[in-house]
Amino acid sequence: MFFRQNEKFPDQKSEHGVRHIAFIMDGNGRWAKKRGMPREFGHREGAKAFQRVVEYCGDIGIEYVTVYAFSTENWKRPENEVKAIMQLFTEYMSEAFRVFAEKGLRIRFIGDRSRFDADLLCEMNRLEQDSKDNKKVLNVAFNYGGREDILHAVKVLASEGKDFTEENLTVALYTEQCPEPDLIVRTGGEMRISNFLLWQSAYAELYFTDTLWPDMQEKDVDAAVAEFARRNRRFGGV
Ligand code: FPP
Repeated sequence: MFFRQNEKFPDQKSEHGVRHIAFIMDGNGRWAKKRGMPREFGHREGAKAFQRVVEYCGDIGIEYVTVYAFSTENWKRPENEVKAIMQLFTEYMSEAFRVFAEKGLRIRFIGDRSRFDADLLCEMNRLEQDSKDNKKVLNVAFNYGGREDILHAVKVLASEGKDFTEENLTVALYTEQCPEPDLIVRTGGEMRISNFLLWQSAYAELYFTDTLWPDMQEKDVDAAVAEFARRNRRFGGV
């Protein structure tokens, strides 16, 4: 364990200062390949790491967690792999996501929902509705792209006849009222943002690790959060 939420003052920000953490969960395929297993196996292990990490973030007092589970570009993957991720996602509706909702997380799905079938959409809406009064938030980015998020928000503003201001656009994004991420963690060794939270990440601290996502443990979250605590955030000031 690294930092615990201040038990005396539960509303006080955690000592580490991370209110919103976001993860680019990369490296599932390589993790599986190293073991001579199909990529789908890596995603299944990745889903276990997702559960472990989200739970731990709650333990250490982080109020908002966002995970990049499927991008608007991931449809280009082989059909079998896309199918396997969709299958996992569907299973998680009645498993991990449901458990998290019951444990006090507000589940929100961010991204373009136009490619999901009616049953899945219905489950997604139900989960969001059932957990809407919970305080801590889990954003699951599924069929998400940062450019699509911005374009979608612009279209919302235009259709509502609202001014194109930063404030209005921020609220029209899929992340709506969420504070911007303080820290974005990317596993798997690549150092890029891959169309994730483009608008919202303007002042986020970025943390890259070679750890492959299925290997991600509590101590790796600690390391990212400790690094964040050492950074000097100036938000364009001095
Ligand atoms: C990137 O690794 C990972 C994905 C595109 C899918 C992420 C999915 C999960 C972690 C599991 C499902 C999660 C939920 C919430 C149900 P990669 O396949 O690009 O790995 P590679 O870079 O090693 O090929």
